[in-house]
Amino acid sequence: MQIFLDSADKNLIEKYSAWGIIDGVTTNPSLMAKEGVDPKERIMEITKLVDGPISVEVVAEDTEGMLEQARKVASWHKNIYAKIPMTQAGLAAVKVLSREGIRTNVTLVFSLSQALLAAKAGATLLSPFVGRVDDISYDGVQLVADIVQAYSLYGFDTKVLAASIRHPRHIVDCINARADIATIPPKLLDKAVAHPLTDAGLEKFMADWYNCVACQNLYK
Ligand code: G3P
Repeated sequence: MQIFLDSADKNLIEKYSAWGIIDGVTTNPSLMAKEGVDPKERIMEITKLVDGPISVEVVAEDTEGMLEQARKVASWHKNIYAKIPMTQAGLAAVKVLSREGIRTNVTLVFSLSQALLAAKAGATLLSPFVGRVDDISYDGVQLVADIVQAYSLYGFDTKVLAASIRHPRHIVDCINARADIATIPPKLLDKAVAHPLTDAGLEKFMADWYNCVACQNLYK
């Protein structure tokens, strides 16, 4: 499963891309607004930090407006994908963009029927919102699994990008659901790295090593 970072924070993107684990970045209007900087400048900075798909969301609500904004952001850099909301206008925009070779990430997806429609329209990536489905007492990971199965059954190329990932269990469940990609908030990666047995094991190794007088010359 590929890992994208769900963030527009330059310092955090730099930190986690140094680990060699980041395959792409997703942004949305809320994440951009939180940064309070010029969005184009920030996106261009991100393209220098991560060599992979970078989703930039359109904010127009009609198809023509979405097309204009999607073409604009896609012209900035070869790795930019236009993020298009799962609406009637959005589907019509995705159809045109896919014919123009502009890659899309259809976002705010909450059902299998939406997923089928987006794939038929030509979406490159599809973002089901796992945590927000859970928020309303349904099963977000099951939705991801259902979409993955349907895309495989019907032979769609659209990749499933699990979004709204809230805790490490979601990451594990998305791997088991065969999601192509999960986009993960930075803080969650710290939790995913940590394990109490790793900490305990390391503490014991260190204690044994520093109690061994003969060992101390090795790294001198
Ligand atoms: O990728 C979508 C994500 O940013 C939404 O996450 O936690 O606000 O549902 P959340």
